[in-house]
Amino acid sequence: MARRTLRDLLTAYKKGGRWVMSTAYDFPMAHVAEAAGVDLILVGDSLGQVVLGYPDTLSVTLDDMVRHAGAVVRGAPDTFVVADLPFLTYHVSDAQALVNAGRLMTEARVQAVKLEGGRRVADTVRRLVDAGIPVMGHLGFTPQSVYAFGGYTVQGRSEAAAEALYTDALALEAAGAFAVVLEMVPAPLAALITDALQIPTIGIGAGAATDGQVLVAHDMLGLYWGRAPRFTKQYADIGQAMEAALRQYADEVRTGVFPADEHTFSMEPAVLERLAARHGHPAPR
Ligand code: KIV
Repeated sequence: MARRTLRDLLTAYKKGGRWVMSTAYDFPMAHVAEAAGVDLILVGDSLGQVVLGYPDTLSVTLDDMVRHAGAVVRGAPDTFVVADLPFLTYHVSDAQALVNAGRLMTEARVQAVKLEGGRRVADTVRRLVDAGIPVMGHLGFTPQSVYAFGGYTVQGRSEAAAEALYTDALALEAAGAFAVVLEMVPAPLAALITDALQIPTIGIGAGAATDGQVLVAHDMLGLYWGRAPRFTKQYADIGQAMEAALRQYADEVRTGVFPADEHTFSMEPAVLERLAARHGHPAPR
């Protein structure tokens, strides 16, 4: 099979297909996401929280993203992979945004980048798109602005905020973004924006009317020990399964059950006998 292209994804969207996006941050998780048949993988800067142990996404660097996104691209050779541009890698200048997005495309070899914000980043989006870089937008609760928001809060509830979000979504579409993530947005507003746009919306805590959904893999798999957001759904308890397996391993090592004969290599007895005799050991049994 060949890697799915943006054209494949947009064709599916136009036929009414819902996009399924999951995050992944490394080779094994990418392999599993591809085997499960997700449409897109997002190497999110949620990496900072669920893999690197930071309290938020702000400390994630471009080097972190390049390394992890590269592993994901290698682990999911047939899936469309999008990587986040981290905090302050696209705000200083369009030229810097271009160079940084270029690293994700050329070093990690992702197929698209995602960045946060609406009208304030629209010119940057246009610049990247003009350079041939597919861009996914991200509106609503944008985690890189958590301190400006004053916490993890739903966005777009007041009339002014809803109007601003709606206008931001149109601005991203006009700038050439191929899709927009809507995070922690009231479901009716997400539905209205989805109706207004000709490009797909991907919801996370934004109700069922968006054109696709995304969840952080570690939240849905039970691999995160921080506070999971209310909008997530846990589909498995992989953390518990891993802990049980490691507990059994520890127990078997301590009681001598592991390693057994089938995990062990043998050698020619005569070689061992001569070695033992040369060094004064009793003859091996
Ligand atoms: O970083 C991330 O995982 C994201 C999703 C929450 C959309 O941006």
